[in-house]
Amino acid sequence: MTMEKEKPESHRVSVSGDVEVSAYLEIAKERVGEQPQAEPEEKFGVEREAVVIIDFGSQYSWLIARRVRECRVYCEVVHSDASWDSVAPLRPRGFILSGGPSSVYEPNAPQAPAYVYESHLPVLGICYGMQVMAHQLGGKVAPGQKREYGLAVLHQNSVNSHLFAGLPTEMPVWMSHGDRIEEMPPGFISLAYTENSAIAAMGTAGGLIGLQFHPEVVHTPQGKTILQNFLYKICKCSGNWTPGSFAAESMERVKEQVKTGRVICALSGGVDSAVAATLIQRAIGDQLTCIFVNTGLLRREEVERTLNTFQKNMKMNLIYVDASERFLQRLKGVIDPEEKRHIIGEEFVNVFEEEAAKIGQVDFLAQGTLYPDVIESASSGNRAVATIKTHHNVGGLPSRMRLSLVEPLRYLFKDEVREVGMALGLSEEMVYRQPFPGPGLAIRIIGEVTKERLEILRAADWIVMNEIKKAKLYRQLWQSFAVLTPVRSVGVMGDFRTYGYMVAVRAVTSEDAMTADWARLPYDVLARISNRIVNEVPEVNRVVYDISSKPPSTIEWE
Ligand code: XMP
Repeated sequence: MTMEKEKPESHRVSVSGDVEVSAYLEIAKERVGEQPQAEPEEKFGVEREAVVIIDFGSQYSWLIARRVRECRVYCEVVHSDASWDSVAPLRPRGFILSGGPSSVYEPNAPQAPAYVYESHLPVLGICYGMQVMAHQLGGKVAPGQKREYGLAVLHQNSVNSHLFAGLPTEMPVWMSHGDRIEEMPPGFISLAYTENSAIAAMGTAGGLIGLQFHPEVVHTPQGKTILQNFLYKICKCSGNWTPGSFAAESMERVKEQVKTGRVICALSGGVDSAVAATLIQRAIGDQLTCIFVNTGLLRREEVERTLNTFQKNMKMNLIYVDASERFLQRLKGVIDPEEKRHIIGEEFVNVFEEEAAKIGQVDFLAQGTLYPDVIESASSGNRAVATIKTHHNVGGLPSRMRLSLVEPLRYLFKDEVREVGMALGLSEEMVYRQPFPGPGLAIRIIGEVTKERLEILRAADWIVMNEIKKAKLYRQLWQSFAVLTPVRSVGVMGDFRTYGYMVAVRAVTSEDAMTADWARLPYDVLARISNRIVNEVPEVNRVVYDISSKPPSTIEWE
């Protein structure tokens, strides 16, 4: 159970490429008081197989959802007190009870809702989910004498179970629990054991299953097969859900929601807002207006490329605002990173609101919110959301903009969004863009942001991107970019002594930006980057490579 607590602390946000825009517009959602809701299945043309994941506060619930989706079964994560009315429209074929930090005997320990058992559908309880199931169905859970954490060897009992179909009798699994099952509830038999857990897996003939280990983590190599067996063999799903089919469903849903209303969308050039806007445009055409704000803090050619894609190629109804002077003015003399963020966030909302006001009556605001954001904001006391708020601290959209939200991607994970983007015909370049922070180059210039410094950084950053792409490393890296430091050092160029800026190159690998490792870039790639920067950017005479991982460092320098 300690797994649930291992998320590293961060003062930053776990992001999608468009988190900034989302954060700016988050407040609109609050105003409307919207909560995540299950989508009624009847709305969709195809019969969609779904499984409901009951969340007991594990940060790994999203990982379970990921794995289930990888098996091409649609699923949604709901809070453990979600009502039957809220999940019934999904017509679930089974339930998964997640792990969680509680102990079943603690006061107020969360329980699975009664409908989970009364439905007579298959249920898979994982870790706390297993314990809560044992507890509720008449078994006995006891504090383990020995906390079991890490790898263990699972031995199957000689019981022929669908759950372990096609798997070896012994396999490594990842354990993380204190409590253990002392007595199984009536009707259950033990399916497997480990050295420290006599009952590491249990089940009934009716499809109630408990696992003491975590099948969703990569440290349980056969975990995905176990989940797949549960979904296919026990819940009888066929695995027919794909992000591609999602696009059609989603357009229908947008049409139905918006009807003849008008929608605005802040386009950032990032993947999420690009895919969201494209989907909405396909659904409702010119009822959508996109606003693209040039903060002056974008990378080289970013404005042109975004305009090209959306205005020229896709003929989108797009308002382009060059607000770079305004942003620069307000950033004059500012060196504190959080103050930079605050100013940029505030100015963004100002510009967005001014432009939106010119359009006249608007009814909806489109956002590229992704499922991880939804899961995060749905769980109470959520740190990530709180961080976004203080991080951007933008004061919100003016209250007269009372807009409902259109969020066509709110049930998708990032890679599913990319698949949808490709299915919609967006370019690979757009779809596989690395994340770029909303405050843009402002947080990659250490110290004051000036026009001159922006130009220097743009030139250096262009070279980094160019060489990384040439070396075919772009898609393997979470992010790769240049940072302009205020450090100046002595160099020599021909017969001259120089005194130039130092640029840092940052390239990291990461799954989700919560942790990251510095990329082991080949020396010759680093050499080319360094050579080109000092030769092509006259103000720079020294290039260093950042070899810090996160934590304790962060990906961005500010
Ligand atoms: P750090 O630097 O905290 O960054 O390791 C994690 C991820 O978040 C991005 N980032 C931001 N994105 N607004 C954003 O939209 C921000 O203020 C911001 N700060 C960091 C960063 O690029 C990385 O992907």
